[in-house]
Amino acid sequence: MDQLKNTNTLFHNTDYQNYLKKITACEVSRSFCRHDIDHFLSVARIASIKTMEAGLNFSRDLIYTTALLHDIGRFVQYQDKTPHEIASHQLAIPLLKILDYTDDQKNLILDAILNHRNPKAKGFSQIVYQSDKLSRACFCCPVEKECDWSSEKKNLTIVY
Ligand SMILES: [Fe+2]
Ligand SMILES: [Fe+2]
Repeated sequence: MDQLKNTNTLFHNTDYQNYLKKITACEVSRSFCRHDIDHFLSVARIASIKTMEAGLNFSRDLIYTTALLHDIGRFVQYQDKTPHEIASHQLAIPLLKILDYTDDQKNLILDAILNHRNPKAKGFSQIVYQSDKLSRACFCCPVEKECDWSSEKKNLTIVY
């Protein structure tokens, strides 16, 4: 049984792959954190652990789908400065139509995308917000000193 059926369908979707390529092109010379599949999978894995720790039972498929989509509009922010949580939310709506989730599940995913930069996010969205921050390996980052994240926000030890 394919536990990550929707996630794999999403990943292989042509539009999704095109968006990933656009982000890669925008970030070729970026020295700070990139928004690539490694980042998305780190967020997915940390959010899966945090979901278990919180005693919640969102499926891994739903968690991974959210993580794969949360920054997908990053290239739009590079192009026209639209905040990428808004661009990602917009791009996620048609992509979710091809996936086998209920309307409630789709709303949960969309809310988490839209609020992944909102420290006041609640429930599943708060888990995604925290996992996004925790995914960055500041403790071994070569440009940590030049990064504008506050020292409280930086992950200077391995936690997840
Ligand atoms: Fe983001
Ligand atoms: Fe992110």
